[in-house]
Amino acid sequence: MQRTLIWDIPTRLFHWTLAISFGLAWLTAESDRWLPVHVFLGYLMLGLVGFRVAWGFVGSHFSRFASFWFGPKQALTYLKDIAGGHAARHVGHNPTGSVAIYLLLALTVAAGVTGILTLGGDERQGLAAGWLSFSQGKLLKNLHEMAATLMLVVVLGHITGVLVESVIHRENLARAMLTGFKLAAANTPKTLARGWIGAALLLAMLGFAGWWFKYALEQKIDTQAWHVASHTGAVQAPHVKFVGKVLPDNARWREECGSCHAAFYPALLPARSWQKMMDEQSRHFGTDLGLDPASSAAVLKFMVDNAADAQQTEAGFKIDQSVAKNEIPQRITGTAYWIRKHRDIAAADWANPQVLSNNNCPACHSDADAGTFEDGAMQIPKK
Ligand code: HEC
Ligand code: HEC
Repeated sequence: MQRTLIWDIPTRLFHWTLAISFGLAWLTAESDRWLPVHVFLGYLMLGLVGFRVAWGFVGSHFSRFASFWFGPKQALTYLKDIAGGHAARHVGHNPTGSVAIYLLLALTVAAGVTGILTLGGDERQGLAAGWLSFSQGKLLKNLHEMAATLMLVVVLGHITGVLVESVIHRENLARAMLTGFKLAAANTPKTLARGWIGAALLLAMLGFAGWWFKYALEQKIDTQAWHVASHTGAVQAPHVKFVGKVLPDNARWREECGSCHAAFYPALLPARSWQKMMDEQSRHFGTDLGLDPASSAAVLKFMVDNAADAQQTEAGFKIDQSVAKNEIPQRITGTAYWIRKHRDIAAADWANPQVLSNNNCPACHSDADAGTFEDGAMQIPKK
């Protein structure tokens, strides 16, 4: 037995990047503010799996699928051998570990693809933007979460397997995946380090990260009202800027409805609410809007065309869902969805001089003016 290179550099780089990405993707899954990072990790993991599949054919001996082409039956037999205390040592992947690897590769693809579809349906962003309705997006989100949970189960099984193997055969398998070396017989097939392919893989990943966090995200926000809001000093940059498509606009509506308070984009209330508001415009929250009939009609048309029921934005869809059909809310801040989304905000944040009113949407949503209310464009101002 001699110290022998088993895992080439690209395989190790793949393994640890995938593992870290998976962990970070879990950590960033719940918070809207981290969504751009979560999405980045998803694309990265899909890319990594693409690389690994190719490497499974052209990589060094122990990285090739041919060297660990085991099925469920052999995996079970191996588990029994372990339980019976006579499991054979495999220099490469053992049968149970191999099946875990195939499951993880497949589940990463499943989680990635359902993630892209969720993003397209739920947020109207990414490769599949607008492919699905918001309700289909919701369904896909459940599938996405199921795939991720299954992945977590397999990951935990995989880690348990590594620990058990390490104890049984008295070798640190995790360290072997870091250094690449294990003790092996002299006739073990040779592994080349393939450092230059590892370097190319690393460069490709860094390049993708740079592009994602610098150019892709910044260019999108420039088309929005971000700079207007940030110009007034009212908002601070969110973690990562991420703003979706440009919604229809109307100069007259902005003029008539944006003079006393920031104009509330029509997607924030259903059409019947706007209809009622214009019918009662002489009693608008204690003021008289005093619009002439022509302006009234033009403003109302724009608002009805782009109301929550039109389901152009995630916020519109969710507000529409949260309002009972016989209700005609006059306050966005009175809808169930709005209340639910804002109930965890501390009193001190509402009292911040940069906020003061709960309908001062642009104070916390840099894209309030544009009407998109993207997760990534939200930031509570600091004192
Ligand atoms: C003359 C001033 C003025 C104009 C012009 C005006 N509003 Fe208002 N609006 C108010 C006041 C005052 C309130 C109540 C603010 C508060 O309670 O904080 C209000 C509140 C609202 C709210 C409720 C916000 C919430 O809390 O969810 C909506 C929606 C609204 N206005 C829509 C409109 C629309 C649409 C137009 C244009 C047709 C318009 N406003 C034009 C003065 C105005
Ligand atoms: C004090 C800051 C603050 C103000 C003011 C504010 N919001 Fe928010 N808003 C937040 C925060 C924080 C969240 C994120 C809550 C979460 O992630 O669960 C949020 C979430 C939302 C969401 C959900 C976005 C999503 O996809 O999860 C919508 C829509 C929204 N706000 C609309 C509004 C509107 C409309 C107004 C004005 C009437 C407003 N907000 C005023 C802080 C604010």
